[in-house]
Amino acid sequence: MTKRISLTGIKPTGIPHIGNYLGAIKPALKLSETCEARYFIADYHALNSCKDPQEIRNMTLEIAAAWLASGLDPQQTLFYRQSDVPETFELLTILLAFTPKGLMNRAHAYKAMLQSNAKSGKDPDDGVNMGLYTYPVLMAADILLFDTDFVPVGNDQFQHVEMAQDIAQSFNYVYGCEGFKIPQPLAHEDSKTLVGLDGRKMSKSYNNTIPMFAPEKQLRKLIMSIVTNSQSVEEPKNPDTCSVFSLYKNFGTTAQLEALRQRYLAGGMGWGHAKQELFEVMNAHLSPLRERYNELMADPSVIHKALKEGGERARSLAAQKIVQLRKIIGIA
Ligand code: ADP
Ligand code: TRP
Repeated sequence: MTKRISLTGIKPTGIPHIGNYLGAIKPALKLSETCEARYFIADYHALNSCKDPQEIRNMTLEIAAAWLASGLDPQQTLFYRQSDVPETFELLTILLAFTPKGLMNRAHAYKAMLQSNAKSGKDPDDGVNMGLYTYPVLMAADILLFDTDFVPVGNDQFQHVEMAQDIAQSFNYVYGCEGFKIPQPLAHEDSKTLVGLDGRKMSKSYNNTIPMFAPEKQLRKLIMSIVTNSQSVEEPKNPDTCSVFSLYKNFGTTAQLEALRQRYLAGGMGWGHAKQELFEVMNAHLSPLRERYNELMADPSVIHKALKEGGERARSLAAQKIVQLRKIIGIA
């Protein structure tokens, strides 16, 4: 039986953090055990918000290293940069003709910008470039170009995958054919929103992240800075409303979790102790990844080689799809 195809991308717009790892990278790698996986760096998506060339270059390397250090095998998984597959941008042009403007008006990211502009009394479209406005169409092109079945993403990206479904269905309807597969968003159990140092969603926009590859000392310092309440050591504590415990859940074994839960409930455990426990399980999990990351960054030629080879393979697949689509639309 042919394997189903899973595809996802990460924008190179910041240092990869534990939220990206648990919410995106780890579940995608798990899925690659049963699917034919295509994972890429969404570099042109970064251009909407970042106009610093060195930053885009550095972050692309960081995200690529994060995938590889987390265990992505470029022999098994098609691993590439979006920009190495220019067919994506031809498909974008095709899809724009099937995308109602009203659909883009409903996109969460755009709506959030409008709201924040309204709050600060600015013009509604202040700071909105057309790249940001049409970004769900570029994301649809990323997905539809590779006959994707599943898109492992966090809940925040579901709307975009649903827009890709709408656009694909509209194309298929117009030409009365199955030009595109209809992709399904897939939220992994692990991709529930992970909290950051201040108890809000861990996100680079909130400056509350734990970088995936923070050196041991910095990791410990960051964990010790997690905001907790002012309960005394003696008081029993509630593990289910605690940021430290919610992070611990992702790294401890079932037995470790149960043991720490009992210590919370019994009282007599201070926040410093809970944080120390968290540091130990996280550090044990992340140490081998950090080591591999440091090796890769010391000699990035391995990363460049993997991306180059992956880019060539991705491009030849994409070219076949474009030939097929051009025939359908009459541009051939
Ligand atoms: P950020 O919010 O830091 O800007 P991105 O939007 O670039 O992160 O997210 C890249 C991927 O990581 C997406 O698939 C997203 O769903 C996932 N992700 C980011 N932050 C978290 C989080 N706190 N919990 C779970 N998944 C997350
Ligand atoms: N929009 C996604 C994000 O912000 C990144 C992305 C771009 C993506 N293209 C994609 C994710 C295609 C899945 C599939 O996180």
